[in-house]
Amino acid sequence: MSKFFSEVASVEAVNARMGNTVNPRLKEVMSSLISHLHAFIKDVQLTQSEWEFAIDFLTQTGQICSGERQEFVLLSDTLGASMLVDAINNRRPAGATENTVLGPFHVKGAPERDLGAGISFDGKGESCLFEGCVTDLRGNGIAGARIDVWSDNAEGFYDVQQPDIQPKWNNRGVFTTGADGRYSFVGIKPVSYPIPHDGPVGKMLEVLGRHPYRPAHMHFIVTAPDFQRVVTHTFVGDDNYMTSDAVFGVKETLVAPYERLQNASTLWRSAFDFVLTPADLD
Ligand code: BEZ
Ligand code: FE
Repeated sequence: MSKFFSEVASVEAVNARMGNTVNPRLKEVMSSLISHLHAFIKDVQLTQSEWEFAIDFLTQTGQICSGERQEFVLLSDTLGASMLVDAINNRRPAGATENTVLGPFHVKGAPERDLGAGISFDGKGESCLFEGCVTDLRGNGIAGARIDVWSDNAEGFYDVQQPDIQPKWNNRGVFTTGADGRYSFVGIKPVSYPIPHDGPVGKMLEVLGRHPYRPAHMHFIVTAPDFQRVVTHTFVGDDNYMTSDAVFGVKETLVAPYERLQNASTLWRSAFDFVLTPADLD
């Protein structure tokens, strides 16, 4: 091989520079990345102005990031990369609850609430009782499982997007299952909403003829000792955006029933059981 870079031997030229003591996994990942990146550039015969556009796009993506805004995660989500990494790393047996995308609006340290307590404090939306059981693969209830929940409000915004409008911790809470593995809480029936689309990712969706909406969902992180952590949502099945989620998060098994109630203290009831996979079953 020539000592110098050439179009034909571009991958070899770059990968040959890696030192001998580089961490083997880093070497594997970076060599593959270079190989696919160069193959992509050759495949589309990338022009100079397209390269400059891409650099500018990535620069803007970085510049809009802050403590509250993670545009690179949004980029990964909208390109399907987040869901693919999640799928590869969370293969589970049939019957186990599937994962989906975490999203940028989870906040650690939400208040621990009693079973049956309310989480919605802005007086907006249609009340909904969420209840069910956390079980193992055999259907045995898991006592002491933690369920961290969060959703948007009836206007499609999370509390952290409207700190001056919504009460702190609106539509959030952490619950612990009882001896029978059951959980319950009162929130609102979630509504569909657009992911933040006033930045470069929103512009990208627009030029690609894509909308920024996610179908209505309730977020859950379910954890219990000796079981795999489940990061997931339950979806409102008749939502208009079910088949075109901007971040590809929908899975058929995650559609939950929403039953309209008569003469009850809430307008809706959504029952969903979470089936956890043992931690040692990889
Ligand atoms: C969410 O569901 O909160 C979300 C997920 C991915 C991107 C933006 C929002
Ligand atoms: Fe969400």
